[in-house]
Amino acid sequence: MKSIAIIYGSSTENTKVAAEKIAEQLADYAPTLADIYDGDEKPFLTHDVLILGVSTWGVQDLQDDWNDFYPKLEKLDLSGKTIALFGLGDASIYPSSFVDAMGILYEIVSQKGATIIGEVSPEGYDFEYSRAVVNNKFVGLPLDDDTEPELTDERIANWLETLKPYL
Ligand SMILES: Cc1cc2nc3c(=O)[nH]c(=O)nc-3n(C[C@H](O)[C@H](O)[C@H](O)COP(=O)(O)O)c2cc1C
Repeated sequence: MKSIAIIYGSSTENTKVAAEKIAEQLADYAPTLADIYDGDEKPFLTHDVLILGVSTWGVQDLQDDWNDFYPKLEKLDLSGKTIALFGLGDASIYPSSFVDAMGILYEIVSQKGATIIGEVSPEGYDFEYSRAVVNNKFVGLPLDDDTEPELTDERIANWLETLKPYL
């Protein structure tokens, strides 16, 4: 069994709550839960699997705490790591930049030698454009607690099932 860190950045706690739900559902793996606000690189270095959560604030903008951490992220060697991404957004008010920050995070970590898992079909999401769509798939799990919070638990559960073969 691999060691897992769930690392999130969250401004109004939606991503935080999602991270806690993910941690709860992966309790058998005893994951470490870390807020990127703390600016700590250690969880990136000491775990095999990194589950990274980020919300989008403004077009093509990372959540503030991820933004502050970005220079450190650029210096990390993530080769050999397995990374899954989830992103909070709002497809009804921001349909043209839906979960963009998940795409930004994907771009940087995939340049660092990590293996990315957990892509998701855009089917069932109502949006126009997302930087997080690559080759017709979301690079991770989009969650929309503003417009369709009732779908969040099921989306997390289904997604985690697809990750389990890699854990
Ligand atoms: C000023 C503002 C700008 C936002 N911009 C976007 C955006 O461009 N794309 C998107 O998908 N969601 C956008 N959102 C929605 C947030 O990402 C969403 O509310 C998210 O759940 C916040 O997560 P957090 O509480 O973990 O920070 C925006 C929200 C606000 C208030």
